[in-house]
Amino acid sequence: MTTETSILLPEARVDLFIKDKETIEAARSLQNDWRFARVTISIEEGDVESAISAYTQASSPTLVLLETDVTDDSFVGRLEALSAYCNEGTNAIVIGPVNDINLYRHLTSIGVSDYLVKPVPLATLAEIIAQSLIEKLGAVGSRMIATIGSKGGVGTSALTQALALGISENLDQKTFFMDAAGGWTSMPVGMGFEPTTNLHEAVKAAASKDFDVLDRMLFKPNEKLSVLAAGSEAMLEPSVQAAQYEELIDMVMASYPVVLIDLSGAIPSLKRMVMNRAHEIMIVATPTLSSLRAARTLMQEVKVLHGGSISNIDLVINMEGLMPSKEVSKKDIADVLEIKPSVTIPFDPKLFLTTENEGKKMNQEKAGRELIERLLPVAQSVLSSVPLAVKGDALDLGVIGSFLSKIKKG
Ligand SMILES: Nc1ncnc2c1ncn2[C@@H]1O[C@H](COP(=O)(O)OP(=O)(O)OP(=O)(O)O)[C@@H](O)[C@H]1O
Ligand SMILES: [Mg+2]
Repeated sequence: MTTETSILLPEARVDLFIKDKETIEAARSLQNDWRFARVTISIEEGDVESAISAYTQASSPTLVLLETDVTDDSFVGRLEALSAYCNEGTNAIVIGPVNDINLYRHLTSIGVSDYLVKPVPLATLAEIIAQSLIEKLGAVGSRMIATIGSKGGVGTSALTQALALGISENLDQKTFFMDAAGGWTSMPVGMGFEPTTNLHEAVKAAASKDFDVLDRMLFKPNEKLSVLAAGSEAMLEPSVQAAQYEELIDMVMASYPVVLIDLSGAIPSLKRMVMNRAHEIMIVATPTLSSLRAARTLMQEVKVLHGGSISNIDLVINMEGLMPSKEVSKKDIADVLEIKPSVTIPFDPKLFLTTENEGKKMNQEKAGRELIERLLPVAQSVLSSVPLAVKGDALDLGVIGSFLSKIKKG
């Protein structure tokens, strides 16, 4: 079942001070849940007193879950004592022995986010923690990488396909990969599938938020990689529009930590929308005058889209050595383009055409594995960055407010 909380949760720390065996088991299982990959969960057998002594020593987390056997005023007093040691942003959930609506009302009125009755089953625990983190931090976990050529035929798709294998296999990230080229796509040959659908069908599934239909459109080359098996539309059929494609992006961003989009072959309005939203952009160019000139213009336009910054652009020079005497040197490229190429890929027709013709994946060849290694830093830089909303000072206290701020007023 897919629910609103079926997304990769934002980076957060959750501490549990609990004693109930079943609930402890459930909390341990959370660590195997893909949604919690970026959530650090620590479980201590204890109660509100253990929490107080923990936070006199160390800073409090995003969310704390406390089990209690007593539910009278003395417990509320201990919660108050705890709040003195908690950061502004810490939320609290209480797990108690009995179902008591008055207690629930009282606790929530003083700033506790929720009250649950033990034992808390795994599904409930996962759902409540996920809801609390999403409400507080927003769904900021996913990262979008877009790739684009400075002009046609520079190898954008071939390199993006290699990158998709690298992110999913070498970096072990659950990845969604699609292009926007419609009938012009080279993905079926590059990734080895028969198109079973097209972009028009995919955006239709997104418009009706139909995860099951979208799921049936996927080709899965490995455990972590899902590729949209599109490309069955006629080449001369009109493209899907940017707003429709954006709905599709929103849908996949909600359930995949990494979304990789190949923009070579997309219409300009679609390229613009995707690059506007992308966390990282890989621009591919060849070391030739015409390609580099277009790369410079493209970079300037992207810079404007991103408020004057080019920090999230990686320039990849492809097919180095195709015609050495006529190529622009590395130094001249850096001078003209403001940034140094992050990666340079040699012209290697044997590798590219062999894998293409024989339907092999890049990583089945030694040279292909080396190429993937070279490309990986492009993805690594964006995947290791901390989502804005959880960076210390920028912490958004959110609509529900924090445990501390409310309890102090109470
Ligand atoms: N470094 C390289 N050495 C040799 N051949 C390459 C190299 N990079 C890409 N190619 C080959 O060049 C051809 C064009 O590549 P690809 O389709 O990836 O380009 P593209 O930029 O995506 O094109 P389009 O603009 O049509 O989308 C393919 O046959 C590919 O295998
Ligand atoms: Mg292409």
